[in-house]
Amino acid sequence: MLRLEGVSHSYAGRAVLRDVTLDLAEYRIGVIGANGSGKSTLARTLNGLVVPDTGTVSLGEWNTRRHAQQIRRQVGFVFSDAANQIIMPTVAEDVAIGLSFGWMKAEEIARRVDAILERFGLDGHRDHPGHLLSGGQKQLLALASVLVTEPAVLVCDEPTTLLDLRNTRMVRRVLDSVVQQVILFTHDLDLIADYERVLVIDEGRVVFDGVPGEAVPFYTDLMERTEREGTDR
Ligand SMILES: Nc1ncnc2c1ncn2[C@@H]1O[C@H](COP(=O)(O)OP(=O)(O)OP(=O)(O)O)[C@@H](O)[C@H]1O
Ligand SMILES: [Mg+2]
Repeated sequence: MLRLEGVSHSYAGRAVLRDVTLDLAEYRIGVIGANGSGKSTLARTLNGLVVPDTGTVSLGEWNTRRHAQQIRRQVGFVFSDAANQIIMPTVAEDVAIGLSFGWMKAEEIARRVDAILERFGLDGHRDHPGHLLSGGQKQLLALASVLVTEPAVLVCDEPTTLLDLRNTRMVRRVLDSVVQQVILFTHDLDLIADYERVLVIDEGRVVFDGVPGEAVPFYTDLMERTEREGTDR
């Protein structure tokens, strides 16, 4: 289980995460909050892309300060702009790269790559350059490239922000179907409507932690309040 204890982080002296303590045990966790509230920074602490100034992020016996490599193998990360995750000349090579540094034989890698491309409806594109895929297909490729390595946890930072309704639904189906624990950071409140647990982040703090049916109204009220305060100023 991912555990955050007293996590604080600043950029150039400005606090972005403030004393966040969380046990992330549930199978489906959503994280919502305004632009700039610290969601992406929090997401990045979960696999050691950001190591906090103070506090610890741990997974079992490991923590991101000392065991970033081990944690990254267990905590997969998907960005909103999937194009940034496409690095190899072809779709199949992009999926294979995550398996290429271990013990796995070439035939086993090929078998797993083919299986996941088929599952994501990308088998027809296996030898095409990834950057020629549509936005939705790129996002599916990014998900496939992470899931093929079989992490325990999937952290997604706004995976549907750049997608149309059809592709958003496709990504949603994938996220609903995976065996992994999913921690989904999003502005799309529909996406987390049936999640087990939703966290609301405001100014670097967890200000609400509960079921979506209560978290979403809390967040909507919070946004309306800050809007009113903004216009009163
Ligand atoms: N690498 C960085 N260097 C300096 N400041 C940063 C950096 N990354 C984020 N910040 C600042 O930290 C604050 C929180 O940013 P973060 O990206 O975590 O917010 P967010 O909740 O993900 O926002 P959004 O909903 O717009 O994606 C912002 O004010 C941002 O400008
Ligand atoms: Mg963000």
